[in-house]
Amino acid sequence: MALIAPSLLAADFIKLNDECAMLNKSEADWFHLDVMDGRFVPNISYGPMIIDFIRKTTKKVCDVHLMILDPGNYAEQFKNAGADNLSVHIEACPHLHRNIQQIKSLGMKAGVAINPHTPVSSLSDILHDIDQVCIMSVNPGFGGQQFIPFTLQKIKQLRKMIAERGLNVLIEIDGGVTLDNASSIVAAGADVLVAGNTVFKSSDPIATIAQLRAL
Ligand code: DX5
Ligand code: ZN
Repeated sequence: MALIAPSLLAADFIKLNDECAMLNKSEADWFHLDVMDGRFVPNISYGPMIIDFIRKTTKKVCDVHLMILDPGNYAEQFKNAGADNLSVHIEACPHLHRNIQQIKSLGMKAGVAINPHTPVSSLSDILHDIDQVCIMSVNPGFGGQQFIPFTLQKIKQLRKMIAERGLNVLIEIDGGVTLDNASSIVAAGADVLVAGNTVFKSSDPIATIAQLRAL
């Protein structure tokens, strides 16, 4: 069983309040909130203001995935907006250790996200400092893309690395998760499944969340 983190990127923003209410009623564990700056990734989504609104609708964990350059300049704003978990991209952070220290000192759980081409081994010297790793199973920037199968090897490798070191770091998988591939992702060792389109484009999102959670 994995935790389920629906990505609001695929929600209908004209009825955001209803979408949040639906997630609150469902078995979803986390709200996954994707922040894009049009620089680190070729798309712009939303920022702290929207997260502040979403925070007010829910007591569930707000898991904020920053796909932005210079995340250190904004960490405090995201804390104030109500983020519980804050993940930054390794590829965007030349001073990753400093970013992680900052996130933790602000009282949030710290995560590191890695792009599909970034090896799991690059986490070697930061793994003991963080709470979660977000393995991207698509190229970040857009919802509704196809899961990259090689990600399964990366999950297994990271699971092994975490076990060998006796750490308690969650593995989150983000991108292209469907009802068809979710069980192999969980079997490979994922703890948290992010799902955007699979949940929000479903005819019965609450049932889909329950199905994902039961795998
Ligand atoms: C992509 C985002 C994902 C995205 C997932 O850059 O990080 O969280 O919303 O969407 P799906 O599940 O539709 O691939
Ligand atoms: Zn994401």
